[in-house]
Amino acid sequence: MIGLIDYGTETQTELDELSFQADLSLQRLKPRLEQVWEEYATSDERQKIFESRLQEHWRPLFAQLHELYSGRYDFFYHLEQVLLTCALAFAQRSEDLCEIDRHRVIEPDWFQSQNVIGGALYVDLFSDNLSRLREHVGYFKDLGLTYLHLMPLFAVRPGNNDGGYAISNYRTIAPSLGTVEDLKLLADDLREAGISLVLDFVFNHTSDDHEWAQRAQAGQREYQEFYYTFADRTVPEQYERNLREIFPTVRRGNFTWHDGMGRWVWTTFNSFQWDLNYSNPAVFRAMLDEMLFIANLGVDFLRLDAVAFIWKQMGTSCENLPQAHLVIRAFNRLVRLAAPALVFKSEAIVHPDEVVKYIDQNECQVSYNPTLMALLWESLATRRTDLLVRTLSRRFSLPDGTSWVNYLRCHDDIGWTFDDDDAASIGINAYDHRNFLNAFYSGQFEGSFARGVPFQHNHETGDMRISGTMASLAGLERAIEQEDEEGKELAIRRMMLLHGVTLSIGGIPLLYMGEEWGMLNDYSFTTDPAKAGDSRWIHRPRMKWEYLEELDDESGRDSIRRRIFRSLQSMIAIRKRTLAFAGQEMSLFPTGNHHLLGYVRSNEASNVVVVANFTEHAQVLDANRLRTAGLGRFFKNLLNGVEYGTAEPVLLQPYELLWLKRI
Ligand code: GLC
Ligand code: GLC
Repeated sequence: MIGLIDYGTETQTELDELSFQADLSLQRLKPRLEQVWEEYATSDERQKIFESRLQEHWRPLFAQLHELYSGRYDFFYHLEQVLLTCALAFAQRSEDLCEIDRHRVIEPDWFQSQNVIGGALYVDLFSDNLSRLREHVGYFKDLGLTYLHLMPLFAVRPGNNDGGYAISNYRTIAPSLGTVEDLKLLADDLREAGISLVLDFVFNHTSDDHEWAQRAQAGQREYQEFYYTFADRTVPEQYERNLREIFPTVRRGNFTWHDGMGRWVWTTFNSFQWDLNYSNPAVFRAMLDEMLFIANLGVDFLRLDAVAFIWKQMGTSCENLPQAHLVIRAFNRLVRLAAPALVFKSEAIVHPDEVVKYIDQNECQVSYNPTLMALLWESLATRRTDLLVRTLSRRFSLPDGTSWVNYLRCHDDIGWTFDDDDAASIGINAYDHRNFLNAFYSGQFEGSFARGVPFQHNHETGDMRISGTMASLAGLERAIEQEDEEGKELAIRRMMLLHGVTLSIGGIPLLYMGEEWGMLNDYSFTTDPAKAGDSRWIHRPRMKWEYLEELDDESGRDSIRRRIFRSLQSMIAIRKRTLAFAGQEMSLFPTGNHHLLGYVRSNEASNVVVVANFTEHAQVLDANRLRTAGLGRFFKNLLNGVEYGTAEPVLLQPYELLWLKRI
């Protein structure tokens, strides 16, 4: 008997005992399920589906909840509440969504198709509100997107709300964006257009004006226990010894004094974002309810926000603890019961060893790839691919049925989360290198093409992250300002090079909308007091619909934006036609040139050799290396039709990217 708890080191006897307890508990809880079926007039067929899913998932789920919460005297009560919450959500799930559930249970790795191409946007900045967004479904289709992540759109606190990440109610949409009904209509339209809907599950914290936090503030002990609150500094200071500071320029330390309540509250991020206490099973159950509500809106992927922080334990860094994984695995099982079409996406922007631990069919099936993101920028800055190659060779492969989400920019900053030993192994001092990268991307390094700005500079530790749009970081802002034609050309090539890698390397490519136009930094956030303190707003510009007019302007004028949009659109279309780009299988091959990155993608009988030049100088790839990697002598670049033979060295132009198919 394997995989009962799929996390932990239980002995056989312990597992037998757990199975026995699991079965007995379920037997005792069955009559309560009957009540749910009756109340919602659930058909026999549906009941049977739930029963058969329980067969598969109940024992591991029980074991996970047992490990997390059996120390509580009222464990069985919470177990019952969890199961009922799940059954209720299942009973209320629409027929259409159940139909999708059935398909995805049979084909759980559907998202590995080369057709899956993502985009992420803020509804207000893109189209003001949800109903207007519905008018732009054609825009996404035109670009080739099949996955759309809407940044958090639920009700938030007034004033600063961390770009939607301080949620005051998970069941209402921010009034300025629309209603739950609008969201459902949008979800239907997107589904019709073959576009998956992606929403956040901001489950590490609520806003300080969420009903639970308000009750806590009113002194209700039951709700104070939904959070981590402390009468004085004693315990916080003990925790603090091992904690990082995530937003050091917002506030020192991880705790915030709440005057009304007269207590300290754990606030990992902003002071108004109160960390939820998952060691309390009532929190687990309450958040399960919110999660399944969101699932039933018709969401395909749920972005699990800030996963690293959801469990705290004295004496540890309170990041990436084993119980954090257990909580997510238990949520995953519950979703398999009630809404199995839903896929979890992990947002763990932490050390690469930790990122990968969240990725599993039974945990998060897909995950941001922050290491690839950071190292692509690293390679652009250094013009060398050594650290990228070293890291990819050890860290790219993933378990079956899971996938990376490869991105270049997002609404957050860039942190240099590579492994220090990977760097040391090729003679790079990680501390110095991070300083160099920060200087380079904040434009302070002599000769840098980038125009980024610092984010959360910690003067004590020297830590810093970088904000800026893709185009500004790639050199376009500077080149435009200096009317430097060659600089513009190189900047565009840098952008297309990076897109060409994320579109081909294996996994789901995710654009951060605005990239399709090469949008530059927006400095206007500094005039808004709710945003001025957070430099990430520099890379959250408002969509400019007038750009669309340039697309069809055939006057011969050279438009940078049209060029970027059309190149990206065409690369996306080529990816979709190329079976080799499905799945995750990627093998690096030695290019013998420190400035090149080379890998082979294969899927079934289809192969593509990718070669990327990370410098502004032409580079040469030894033809024999191409012959061995691609097992052929003649190739065609899918991107522009140019043919290559292996009788002569392969010449790559500045920042050129080749997607070579054998002919
Ligand atoms: C995630 C979000 C980030 C937010 C933080 C707190 O990391 O991506 O924007 O500030 O969580 O919710
Ligand atoms: C940290 C967190 C990450 C968050 C980011 C926001 O890197 O680990 O979750 O997105 O801060 O800046």
